[in-house]
Amino acid sequence: MNILVTGGAGFIGSHLVRRLVTRGGHSVVNVDALKYSGNLLNVKDLEHDSRYRFVHGDICDRQLIESLIRDHKIEGIINCAAETHVDRSILDPGVFASTDVVGTGILLEEARRAGVKRFLQVSTDEVYGSVEEGSSTEEDRLAPRSPYSASKAGGELLVLSYWTTYRFPVMVTRGSNTYGPNQYPEKFIPLFVTNAIEDQPLPLYGDGRQRRDWLAVQDHCAAIEHVLMYGEAGSVYNVGGGNERENLVVAEELLACLSKPKSLIRFVQDRPGHDRRYSVDCGKINRLGWKPEISFERGLRSTVEWYQQHQPWWQPIKSGAFKQYYEEQYRRRLKEGRTCAS
Ligand code: DAU
Repeated sequence: MNILVTGGAGFIGSHLVRRLVTRGGHSVVNVDALKYSGNLLNVKDLEHDSRYRFVHGDICDRQLIESLIRDHKIEGIINCAAETHVDRSILDPGVFASTDVVGTGILLEEARRAGVKRFLQVSTDEVYGSVEEGSSTEEDRLAPRSPYSASKAGGELLVLSYWTTYRFPVMVTRGSNTYGPNQYPEKFIPLFVTNAIEDQPLPLYGDGRQRRDWLAVQDHCAAIEHVLMYGEAGSVYNVGGGNERENLVVAEELLACLSKPKSLIRFVQDRPGHDRRYSVDCGKINRLGWKPEISFERGLRSTVEWYQQHQPWWQPIKSGAFKQYYEEQYRRRLKEGRTCAS
């Protein structure tokens, strides 16, 4: 199949592109705007593969998308391009609506006009909002609570409207918290692992008792590929790892992997509107034939090892443009924070 992956130089996108080319035997065009978290090092190993092609560009660029679909005879599109970080959406919400809603709309419309056979929107379990009890099913009401999750909800509603209105064959996956190698160190696990390696404090929001369901990136990509191939048009599929943990517990587990003290944990001012818990019911995608294979213990250990062994990948990020964001997001919080003992 000729597949266009957007955002393929990012975290999930790069793992997905690699999987589609090397395991699936597909021809893949990777279009990525190379914004702050896009990194061509993530796909360097594919550079000379004849089934792979990188194009620097934005999903908001209608002409580019139109020509890519036509010139490469694209049959399937997977939209991974997105602004993804909740904390950044609180600092600067506008860009989230531009990429995650408007950009998705442009890509979708060009795909429909060209008669693309399958369109998969990579979305998030955050569209359900905070789930205090039980697990969300695909039919549950959407109740996003951050500018990020509201933008993702807007994008996927637009995608689903194309099935209702045009019978254009779209699918949506709603993934849970994904972790693994190559994740930009603004997210919880890579931030905490790299800070711990450098003996820097780990800024844990609020009481640290929020719960997330952790999904290994390799399992997430297998799910996306599976839905692209076998999913039903017009359908939504939850994708969870089945590894629900409190943030504090994850912080303690990763410190244990690194043999670092718990005193590195710093309780800091909470994220505004912080969702307490996400949990998705994965019965539907299980029945389609996918289930996660990587236990959290194994996945976390290998992720920690990857960051230990790939300091040349993350150190330039943390000492570059990221520094300014880190200052804005954490400097005051860390100054006012308290350790476990205090
Ligand atoms: O649930 C899927 C979503 O997971 C994805 O759609 C998002 O793109 C992805 O960013 C992630 O959202 P979260 O907000 O859950 O992930 P994050 O890594 O930012 O935070 C995970 C938890 O850790 C959350 O409860 C907030 C907390 N946290 C995070 C950071 C960055 C802290 O306590 N301290 C921190 O410094």
